Amino acid sequence: MVYNTIQDNEKIKKLEQIHMARVSHTDSALSFHLMPPSGWLNDPNGLCQLHGTYHIFFQYSPYSAIGEGDKYWGHYETKDFINYTYTGIFLSPDCDLDKDGVYSGSAFVEDDTMYLYYTGNTMEDGDFDFTYEGRGSNTTLVTSKDGITASAKKCLLTSADYPHTLSCHVRDPKVFKENGKYYMVLGARTRNDVGCVLLYEAEDKEHFRFKQYITSEKPFGYMWECPDLFRIDGNRFLSISPQGIAAEEYQYQNVYQSGYYRILGDLEDYTLSPFIEWDMGFDFYAPQSFIDESGRRILIGWMGIGDIEYENPTVAEGWQHTLTVPRELTLDASGDICQNPVKELTALRKDAVIIPSDHFLTEGAFEMLADISGNEDFSIIIDKGMQILYDAGTSVLSLSFLPDRECNPEDAKGCGRCIRRAKIRENKVSSLQILVDHSTIEIFVNNGHYVFSSRYYKTGHAHTVEFSGDMNITVYTPVSYTHLRAHETTLHL
Ligand code: FRU
Repeated sequence: MVYNTIQDNEKIKKLEQIHMARVSHTDSALSFHLMPPSGWLNDPNGLCQLHGTYHIFFQYSPYSAIGEGDKYWGHYETKDFINYTYTGIFLSPDCDLDKDGVYSGSAFVEDDTMYLYYTGNTMEDGDFDFTYEGRGSNTTLVTSKDGITASAKKCLLTSADYPHTLSCHVRDPKVFKENGKYYMVLGARTRNDVGCVLLYEAEDKEHFRFKQYITSEKPFGYMWECPDLFRIDGNRFLSISPQGIAAEEYQYQNVYQSGYYRILGDLEDYTLSPFIEWDMGFDFYAPQSFIDESGRRILIGWMGIGDIEYENPTVAEGWQHTLTVPRELTLDASGDICQNPVKELTALRKDAVIIPSDHFLTEGAFEMLADISGNEDFSIIIDKGMQILYDAGTSVLSLSFLPDRECNPEDAKGCGRCIRRAKIRENKVSSLQILVDHSTIEIFVNNGHYVFSSRYYKTGHAHTVEFSGDMNITVYTPVSYTHLRAHETTLHL
């Protein structure tokens, strides 16, 4: 088979230049979130920091806003999570190992080098279901010093190496080191449709041996994607993105989930705590975390999900999806993980305005802090169509949209998104930090105990916010994030 990557990459560069120029001033283009330079973006990949620079790779279909075609890895870098440089395609599906997609993976940094592990997806010719037959998943390694040039690809494991109880769905390696040994987790679906994680062990960074399965006591979905095994303050957590979980009123409301277990005991003899969802909004999936050079654990998620029933009208403009802002993970007193925007983002704040009344108007991206006293019902209505409601009687916080047909063009539209609810464990909402970036909203509740991440759409850049309840509101406005809008992100093509 002949692969034509140089021409392919030249074609993508041109496409990206044209696309970025075309969409940068549209109503939905983002100021401080990473958009695909063209087409479709999904999972964050290979997150790490090396010599002060953060590397954010991502799953990328440059030719198609609906994610058709084979996946590539694109690459953004930043030193401060404010100024980003897009450096172009890092990995292409250009050889027998990954001819049908350079799928998700992670970075492990050692010896001043990024070791980047990913799944090379291959599909056999023929009439296969590609779940139980016909698909290959090659765990592959490349190294890089800069996120721009990759070494030759080296296959570490093929489908023949995984336990034979598994279906063809085995992917998304995440590598870490503990006590001088290297470990890798892979997400998997068994042949009888149970989601699980495979744990591998190695003395070096290449020769991984299967060690054990990690899974829930009772089956929890048919497939676990994008696993991440990490510690915070010595406590071990397993993050997964499970598929096949039935929706409940206050949990698992999206088509696919993502969340974490706390691992109690040793890995050889573990129990898993109850599963906690990372995010309660409409658009969040496949997050990945990493430790930066200052020791912070930072999580970035895909602000999107596959197979959703709702829509993103940016498809008509030739792009779809974004990543969340980077979130620092810390533990609260009860051992649950809190997620808060990394402190670097406060550099985006301009004049703080304390709102003296029950509403305000603003223009463009903005941040809003609500300090809530007492424990009463409250509501915040953004752009007439999007509502954050708290019912103190039931401790339920919800994010909902009016039906699109009841909205004017300049009102917030959910484009098929209806309602997401969270039952607040602490039975009280005392603070909200809300980031609005043209077509995204992220709501951090009670210092990051809960987060709701969602897309929403409207015409124009003017916002109205109306609220009721006992709260003090501070707005960072005018927040001129506009220097970050995609067109002004440095393009290094
Ligand atoms: C999660 C996922 C991964 C896979 C990648 C392909 O969204 O399905 O499991 O590696 O996307 O783009």
